[in-house]
Amino acid sequence: KSFSIGIDIGGTNTAYGIVNRRGEIQEQDRFHTTDYNTPEKFVAALYAKLAPHIAQLDQEAINGIGVGAPNANYYTGEVRLAPNLPWRGVIPLRHLLEEAFGLPVTITNDANATAIGEMTYGSARGMRDFLVVTLGTGVGSGFVANGQLIYGHDGFAGELGHIIAVRDGRPCGCGRNGCLETYASATGIVKTAKAYLEQADQDQVQIEGPGTEDWLIPVWRNTGEVSSSGIHKAALAGDPAAAEIFEFTGKILGQALADAVAITSPEAIILFGGLAKAGDFILKPTKLHMEKNMLAVFQNKIDIVPSGLSERDAAILGAAALAW
Ligand code: BGC
Ligand code: NA
Ligand code: ZN
Repeated sequence: KSFSIGIDIGGTNTAYGIVNRRGEIQEQDRFHTTDYNTPEKFVAALYAKLAPHIAQLDQEAINGIGVGAPNANYYTGEVRLAPNLPWRGVIPLRHLLEEAFGLPVTITNDANATAIGEMTYGSARGMRDFLVVTLGTGVGSGFVANGQLIYGHDGFAGELGHIIAVRDGRPCGCGRNGCLETYASATGIVKTAKAYLEQADQDQVQIEGPGTEDWLIPVWRNTGEVSSSGIHKAALAGDPAAAEIFEFTGKILGQALADAVAITSPEAIILFGGLAKAGDFILKPTKLHMEKNMLAVFQNKIDIVPSGLSERDAAILGAAALAW
């Protein structure tokens, strides 16, 4: 069998690819997860998109399908109570996909799939202890310790996005308050920016002058909108508000990572996702506050690095590697 299909289901986008044994992605595409309001419609659409490629290869050449999805469980094949997916409750995703495709399906948490991709094809090759953190619609994590991905006794281990980062903080989609993902995800940083901008409106802060068109306050007043890429753009244009928002976010993330380090003592922390694309704007404050808050034995030896692989590729490759 020469190919596996890797699928990365995210709160916003779903990406898939057909992958060969060497980890080369042959065909890949993406679409909006949110276009489908039931898992059945989603699976039917996914099948319609992949069927022509499968027919071209001939079903016999395909080893199976690997899937990474938020709140997915490797043991049961279910997705359970996902705060960031458009589908509620318990979804028998593996079963739905096997019925549709007639191929063996393996499922795991999306960030776990990313960790497997990073470990098999990325910068974590040869590392026995590392942590992958994905800063997307939600915050996900994959802990590799002693050379193995940690699943825990029931398969749900490694939910770093739902540790309480701020006591009595923002409400989270999981029903609790103050979860890391309500601050350090792409959606969390937008919440921080909105709060900042509403305050600036109240205080009637005025921004004028050349080169400030991309700053947050003018963009907000012109369009009524703010996005995580817009915050990055503003920071690049020298906006002090954007820098402050990254500093606040990096502080919360850095403190959480300092705690995570105490649990598995990783050699490196690899960041993925929309927010990680902001590079040093987010990395610098994150590193600073991680070091500041870490137990002395861990200080000054843990790399926090953006991944060499794109998030989409890592998750597709990891999901495909899981199918092998
Ligand atoms: C979910 C995780 C997932 C992460 C990233 C979180 O809300 O609980 O399972 O890995 O989002 O999608
Ligand atoms: Na995980
Ligand atoms: Zn939560």
